[in-house]
Amino acid sequence: MTKPTQPNTSLDLKDFFSAAEARSDRWHQLNAAGRAWEAAVAQGQPEDRLHADAVRLLAEIAPLESYWAYPGPRLMAAVGEAIEQRNAGVLARLTQKISSALITGSYRQDVAAWDPLQDGDTPPELLVPEAYPGEGHKPYFEVLVVTPNDPSHWERSRAELRRLRRPEDPFVYEVVQVGTFEDAVLGAIFNTNVQAVVIHGGILFRSRHDMPVMRDFLQRHISIDPASTAPGELAVALARALKNVRPELDIYLLTDRAVEQLAGSEEAAPLRRIFHSVEEIMEIHLAVLDGVGERYETPFFGNLKKYAQRPIGTFHALPVARGKSIFRSNWIRDMGHFYGANLFLAESSATTGGLDSLLEPTGNIKKAQEMAARAFGATRAYFGTNGTSTSNKIVVQALCKPGDIVIVDRNCHKSHHYGLVLSGAQPYYVEAFPLTQYSMYGAVPLRTIKKALLDCKAEGKLDRVKVVDLTNCTFDGHMYNPKRVMEECLAIKPDLIFLWDEAWFGFARFSPFHRRRTAMGAAAALAARYRDPAYRDAYKSYAAKVAALGSNTAPLLDMALMPDPDKVRIRVYQTNSTHKSMSALRQGSMILVWDEDFHHVEGPFEEAFFTHTSTSPNLQVIASLDVARRQMELEGYELTLKATELSLRIRREVNSHSLIARYFRVASAADMIPAEFRASKLADYGPPHSTWKDVIEAWNDDEFALDPTRLTLICGAAGFDGTQFKNLLAERFDIQLNKTSRNSVLIQTNINNTRSDAALLIKVLSDLSREIEQRLAQGGVTERAAFAARVKSLMTDVPDLPNFSRFHAAFRDNAKAVSNEGHMRAPFFMAYDEANCEFIKLASKEIDDRLKNGPELVSANFVIPYPPGFPIMVPGQVLTAETIAFMRKLDVKEIHGYHAAHGLKLLTPAALAARGAVGRDA
Ligand SMILES: Cc1ncc(COP(=O)(O)O)c(C=O)c1O
Repeated sequence: MTKPTQPNTSLDLKDFFSAAEARSDRWHQLNAAGRAWEAAVAQGQPEDRLHADAVRLLAEIAPLESYWAYPGPRLMAAVGEAIEQRNAGVLARLTQKISSALITGSYRQDVAAWDPLQDGDTPPELLVPEAYPGEGHKPYFEVLVVTPNDPSHWERSRAELRRLRRPEDPFVYEVVQVGTFEDAVLGAIFNTNVQAVVIHGGILFRSRHDMPVMRDFLQRHISIDPASTAPGELAVALARALKNVRPELDIYLLTDRAVEQLAGSEEAAPLRRIFHSVEEIMEIHLAVLDGVGERYETPFFGNLKKYAQRPIGTFHALPVARGKSIFRSNWIRDMGHFYGANLFLAESSATTGGLDSLLEPTGNIKKAQEMAARAFGATRAYFGTNGTSTSNKIVVQALCKPGDIVIVDRNCHKSHHYGLVLSGAQPYYVEAFPLTQYSMYGAVPLRTIKKALLDCKAEGKLDRVKVVDLTNCTFDGHMYNPKRVMEECLAIKPDLIFLWDEAWFGFARFSPFHRRRTAMGAAAALAARYRDPAYRDAYKSYAAKVAALGSNTAPLLDMALMPDPDKVRIRVYQTNSTHKSMSALRQGSMILVWDEDFHHVEGPFEEAFFTHTSTSPNLQVIASLDVARRQMELEGYELTLKATELSLRIRREVNSHSLIARYFRVASAADMIPAEFRASKLADYGPPHSTWKDVIEAWNDDEFALDPTRLTLICGAAGFDGTQFKNLLAERFDIQLNKTSRNSVLIQTNINNTRSDAALLIKVLSDLSREIEQRLAQGGVTERAAFAARVKSLMTDVPDLPNFSRFHAAFRDNAKAVSNEGHMRAPFFMAYDEANCEFIKLASKEIDDRLKNGPELVSANFVIPYPPGFPIMVPGQVLTAETIAFMRKLDVKEIHGYHAAHGLKLLTPAALAARGAVGRDA
């Protein structure tokens, strides 16, 4: 028998992150209610309560549905009638149809999905709207029309626009109408299908739906003050508000105002086009298609597809191009069948014939990069085909030369350290806050960075500090507040350059929540801030306050610093592994630039790009970067919200599960970020910990925030160390993950994950918890004692994380300086000469003796254990008792740069003595 629904125990709409997810949940509930009601009727049971459930659920859904084209007025009316006429069977059928159309997205192609009277699947030949016979798949989207017209005319306007469809249109769209400013914002927030907004002049402000939950959604995204906006300006104010939430949207204005004047004004910046009067309806239709077409266009991928279809004879390298050596082979034909012919047809080592050169782009790669810059909010974008490992080296080498100082998180990815070796710049290592309990690091406090800058200033070498190099977000999900970091650093050195390694965070641009924490989002916000006359006024009083401090710089560490608007330069570089968070092939990476002084570094940037970029870049990787950009510009908003929603579901489910939570836990914001960096006191996501308003405030202002999509799952309390648990998940359950710590594993949700993936994970954790319970119950005292000891060793007896000690005096320009920068390239290359090196076993007494009595132990190379993945030793670093203690406690198998059989590779005291005093560019 169908179980009755229990709507009262379901999640409240306001707890949802993504309204689209809330919506499919609600339709599912209404369908379950309909089925329960139908079953009750069939069995002659009372139906009033079930009818009331359906009425209530529909009342909740109906206002939400007014923001989507599907199911639309016809289906909604049919559902309402079914409830009103107490026809449970029809209700169950209609809600089933709607629910599955929403989940599968079939309404985008299936005309039958829109018709209350049609049942079942539509034959494939009808899977396109009838207006386009014979056409293949046409992407579907929705256009939000904001109109002051009476809703009774809406159907007619929709029909009018539908009549404009032509077979040659590349896309198909449906129209959703709303009447007010608030409804338009809600429509753009809720409806992930919306790609374009047409705003008519004369709209009103307040929504006709007065649901508190909608207000909650509104507050999450924008603060609106209707009182301060003149009615005539509401339309452009709306355009601005919409761009704030979804910068990718095309916005059109239809107005009676003097369009010529408006078109040239600053106000018009968020508008794609302005139309005068409604007569231009065909123009609007074409403009809408054109706007979406511009985002859909993938210049390089498009060209590559064309290239693959041409009969081309190749007389260059790359025998796999065209695939003849493969498909004709007696022995490797299976490779061809596995990958398919297109892979080989789309291969070439030529840069002609419609293909461009990544090294000197002038055609479609150039265009694709410009489109990427637009999409990611940068002024320039460069594609990389060898991962962010290489992108980081390119940027470091482009910006730094020997003798420059780079303030860099010691815990950053090794590509930065190697980049510094290559460029000859001196790292000034700054420490992230430690999370000793999980054997990992957080991020570098702003105070630490400011102190490093002020120390350099005090020592007269601020001019040599070129770059601040940080990882945002960190592997474990610590998001900086890049706006604040850059603002305060620029107050100390107004032309400082920032490299933000956003390897994991490329997707963040497309989430209205995460965007505020991205490098490019911050660059745009700061550029606007320093242009604002109000900032100048604020700066004047700030400057007077700072002048009053005189030479006492100590208070600067704890006050909010402001840069001089006349001197400040916004110079921001971001690298992202597009392949890590978007649909690019492995190694697809981008360098995004917002640098007001790029002309100063253009030459070095080119050199660095040439240094590190293969002369045979993989065309498929380039094409996938182009396509990944297309996807994010068209559906990044939906996908990133869904991935975030999913991560919140997993967090909630694991931490509130009566069995799982005994052994496993997803670390909360409070676990991952010490209270001193969370002024908001936000401890965790979702009720009962926080509302969405709290989250927005925290993400706006806190020094660090936790990206919810990166879940540190603590498995130590279940008796597993990270590596062991990772292997168990892979071997027994086919669940793959990447990063581990001593007592945790990192679960990442991205745009590829589904609720089924979440269910799989929850099921596995629940099965494992049950197994542990059973083992402990059946194993008796001995088993329980052994388990407790194991848990204690993993969760309590954790080794202290060693800070960077210092460079040996032989690699310091001034060994007495407070700032810790040193030459790293010199010791790196000294180690190439075997005579300069010695090996000492880690466990040997000699190590302890040298620690006590000298001579100092100085590392000859990088030593990077996995996990945690940061260099415990760098070339030229003096080893301390803490470093050795950590190394001795390490129980991981993979330690790059260290071979237990040989021992630690050190520079000999004689070699160090021979080096003597050093010069800056050594
Ligand atoms: C912070 C960070 N930066 C850069 C990289 C390197 O990126 P890629 O794998 O694209 O070379 C990684 C890889 O894990 C990383 O974690």
